[in-house]
Amino acid sequence: MTAPLDPRKGQPAAAATLAQVRKPLAHDSAQKHVTGTAAYVDDVVEPVGMLHVAPGWARNAVRGKILNLDLDKARAVDGVVAVLTAADVPGINDCSPALGDDPVFADGEIQFFGQVVFAVVAETRDAARRAARLAAVEIEPITAIISPEDAVAADTTVLPDYQFRRGSPETGMTAADHILSGVMHIGGQEHFYLEGQAAFAVPQEDGGMFVHSSTQHPTEVQHTVAKVLGVPDALVTTEVRRMGGGFGGKESQANQWAAIAAIAAAHTGRPCKLRLDRDDDMIMTGKRHDFRVEWQVGHDGEGRIRAVELDFLARCGYSADLSLGVNDRTMFHADSSYFYPDAAIRSRRLKTDTVSNTAFRGFGGPQGMLAAERLIDAIAISTGKDPLEVRKINFYDAERNFTPYGMPVEEHHVLHDLIAQLEKSSGYWDRRERVRAFNAASPVLKKGLALTPVKFGISFTLKHLNQAGALVHLYTDGSIQLNHGGTEMGQGLYQKVAQVVADEFGVGLDRIRITATNTSKVPNTGPTAASSGTDLNAMAAKRAAEAIKARLIGFLSTEHQVPEDQIHFASNKVFAGEKVLTLAEVAKAAHMARIQMSHAGFYATPGITWERESATGRPFLYFAYGGACAEVTIDTMTGEMTVDRVDILHDVGHSINPAIDIGQIEGGFVQGMGWLTTEELWWDDAGRLRTHAPSTYKIPTASDIPPDFRVALYEGNGNPQDTIYRSKAVGEPPVMLANAVFCAINDAVASLKPGMIPELNAPATPEAIMKAVRGMRRAKAPQSHEPVQA
Ligand code: MTE
Ligand code: MOS
Repeated sequence: MTAPLDPRKGQPAAAATLAQVRKPLAHDSAQKHVTGTAAYVDDVVEPVGMLHVAPGWARNAVRGKILNLDLDKARAVDGVVAVLTAADVPGINDCSPALGDDPVFADGEIQFFGQVVFAVVAETRDAARRAARLAAVEIEPITAIISPEDAVAADTTVLPDYQFRRGSPETGMTAADHILSGVMHIGGQEHFYLEGQAAFAVPQEDGGMFVHSSTQHPTEVQHTVAKVLGVPDALVTTEVRRMGGGFGGKESQANQWAAIAAIAAAHTGRPCKLRLDRDDDMIMTGKRHDFRVEWQVGHDGEGRIRAVELDFLARCGYSADLSLGVNDRTMFHADSSYFYPDAAIRSRRLKTDTVSNTAFRGFGGPQGMLAAERLIDAIAISTGKDPLEVRKINFYDAERNFTPYGMPVEEHHVLHDLIAQLEKSSGYWDRRERVRAFNAASPVLKKGLALTPVKFGISFTLKHLNQAGALVHLYTDGSIQLNHGGTEMGQGLYQKVAQVVADEFGVGLDRIRITATNTSKVPNTGPTAASSGTDLNAMAAKRAAEAIKARLIGFLSTEHQVPEDQIHFASNKVFAGEKVLTLAEVAKAAHMARIQMSHAGFYATPGITWERESATGRPFLYFAYGGACAEVTIDTMTGEMTVDRVDILHDVGHSINPAIDIGQIEGGFVQGMGWLTTEELWWDDAGRLRTHAPSTYKIPTASDIPPDFRVALYEGNGNPQDTIYRSKAVGEPPVMLANAVFCAINDAVASLKPGMIPELNAPATPEAIMKAVRGMRRAKAPQSHEPVQA
């Protein structure tokens, strides 16, 4: 594979040749994953004296004052060692990421159905779980606020409202020829990581604690454990080798389980493990935010947008958690890829008496983008134009290239080029004709087609999170140990970083030992999130490797009287002028000459200037782009839907590992498709989540992969920003490729009555499709020139 040239700033010697970077290598743990030998928290060999912890909650309460908590029956169960409540927390009873509003154990009041009230510590997991059901909790109920509409009526929020405004949407609306408006509901999503929440705490000397945690944010788990135990951060170490999926659900919400395990370990002086049962996990942990979106769009009659007003009403749950960043990201993506001359984008972060919603792949972005696609589809339907035409005339371009929050869209040409390529490779226009012909001849089955764009901002919008550290050791046998602050959750981060470090030293991956993420090796890290794991950690690791290499080069230059620029590390060799050495020989000699062969690297993303207060500056280093074309068939008698074909073209810049990137694109798309079609969370009127197991909550399986699924990487000029080998982040953006499936379903429903906008909500389950179909059949057809209210 030939490697494109990269400007390698700060490189002390000649550029390394790329032998590992850009190779489509399998995930470093692929074989271990499929043979069951990859170790997760629950696989760590249990130390002698290990106790098991199960959380307990009040099955009779949604919201209410705790009048009496009787735990005698739980304490009496054979094997129970302790039953812990808020009173047993030695430090502060809080596991929130920032605001102090997430009690580890409910104290005085239960705030949502499933909130942890106590924990049972027992000799066996079985005893702990059985005892956890034996609490008698006496409650004085408080009327619960469940839906976003209830919260609007009660005017309860977890965080202040926020808005972006550009120009005057009021004037823009007046100037528009046509105004359309409507309301759309967008559902939430359960993470359904295959490995549930798990933590295991081992007491150390002097009140210290070592915690194995399935977390995307080891540093925050460290801080939380220190806080609940009332000890300094330095006494706590968190380690995570890998997660069996995180998807955002272990960014802040792994804290509580580590905290409980640590409190139990401190209390008993024995190692304590907590692994949530699947139903408990689904009931007790937050999900993707669901929204009520109120939208209004004015256009010029040709379908070109003049003004937009969007109100995002999010169900945040009982506490703030990460709702600030999530809802901001919804707003940042409410433009999808379209230029809004005048816009008001408003956000309310509603407080409901439900579990606290949290990060989920896309971090609010998918909901914002789906709302934008609704505007476009509404315009297309009411003007009778093809939705793709309306999308394209509203795309950012050379003149119209500022987002509503003021960031320039520099790569608008990538958006245009990528969509043009996909339009061609998917055969969009031929298939549009075929879909039309099919629908004309088919009274019951209807086909729909849609081609939608993705533009996703890369960087944490909380500026200080855009930093990373790494620790690289070269040993005297020439083997290398690699550590960084990023966590592995299946996304292939460890492998990509290892590829970068291997190429720095010119060795094969067999010389690189990837080690578990550990807060005592790399401190003060951010979460592995916002898709930035590789951007940040590979840069930090590269800098660490470069520093070690620079010292070796200095040493070799003196030792062998060779100019520094004639020393190269490649092909498992070190070339010093005429001399050819192995890395082991160099390492050994350098060690004898007392050269330091370990280095901590550091990276902070440049160029991010976002100021939230004034809503000015640049929140993202760059955008990742993509496009998807989906064809679906719906049955208008039953609401059943099949996805017939999906074509994807996605921009990862110059890929570090095309195999892993394609895996992320396929996985992200399928997860997004699940969110928009089959995954439905359902709370009953009392506020109890009734979909808390795979029996009632349908995630996509292997059989849901589209039968015709074509995924390709966009070949462009790479990332214009100086990112690691000019790659682009890939973890989250592909989720939003699934908007094409939703829009195709909408297209199929819309075919029933030209000119009428379907009332289709997400997820487009068979029930939702039937409802939209029935709405179409009942209403009388509008005049095509009339503005249509959805
Ligand atoms: N891929 C797998 N297999 N498992 C996961 O849990 N999480 C996603 C994405 N891809 C996830 C995944 C989310 S939410 C994010 S933010 C990124 O991976 C995080 O990793 P990265 O920054 O290294 O891409
Ligand atoms: Mo991902 S939702 O940023 O963990």
